[in-house]
Amino acid sequence: MEEKILVAYASTYGSTQEVAEAVAAALREAGRTVDLRPMREVTSLAEYGAVVLGAPLYMFHWHKDALRFAARYREALQKLPVAVFALGPFNDKADEWQEIRKQINSELAKFPWLTPAVVEVFGGKFDPSSLRFPYKLIPALRQMPASDIRDWTAIGAWAKGLASILRLDPKGL
Ligand SMILES: Cc1cc2nc3c(=O)[nH]c(=O)nc-3n(C[C@H](O)[C@H](O)[C@H](O)COP(=O)(O)O)c2cc1C
Repeated sequence: MEEKILVAYASTYGSTQEVAEAVAAALREAGRTVDLRPMREVTSLAEYGAVVLGAPLYMFHWHKDALRFAARYREALQKLPVAVFALGPFNDKADEWQEIRKQINSELAKFPWLTPAVVEVFGGKFDPSSLRFPYKLIPALRQMPASDIRDWTAIGAWAKGLASILRLDPKGL
């Protein structure tokens, strides 16, 4: 039977959730069976043959739901094919993207046993009018312009590529 893929996401303002929805849709279009769940609602990985972890970076760190999820499901994630995508950049400056790739790599280095088949960074969405406490107290953030640089074509293409990468390999089985 075809192994099910879990697309598990963390999202504070909803932009990563929308990307996770697009990733799940592209995988389904490519013929894979997919469950899409917020990380905090996942209770077991037993029924999955692969996992996609999608979470934004906040203040140089992986979203706290992702940090908790990775720690909690260490045993299963060690055995399953895993893909990771992170949201973060607000603009297309190459040096910022490079910096953000470093951020996600150093967050993933906290879980040396986690060996994703792919790690991708996508542009994020920022809306100063929806900032919550404590971020709305930071003038530099409030004064930043709204932006949404999520590249839906790149997201769809990446997800389509995952359909063949995320086959259950014999790792640990
Ligand atoms: C207060 C705040 C801090 C952020 N810190 C970072 C950061 O350190 N690195 C980064 O790449 N992106 C950072 N971002 C950008 C978010 O990752 C981006 O807005 C993302 O799309 C948010 O995802 P969500 O809507 O799913 O919560 C930050 C955004 C906010 C509002």
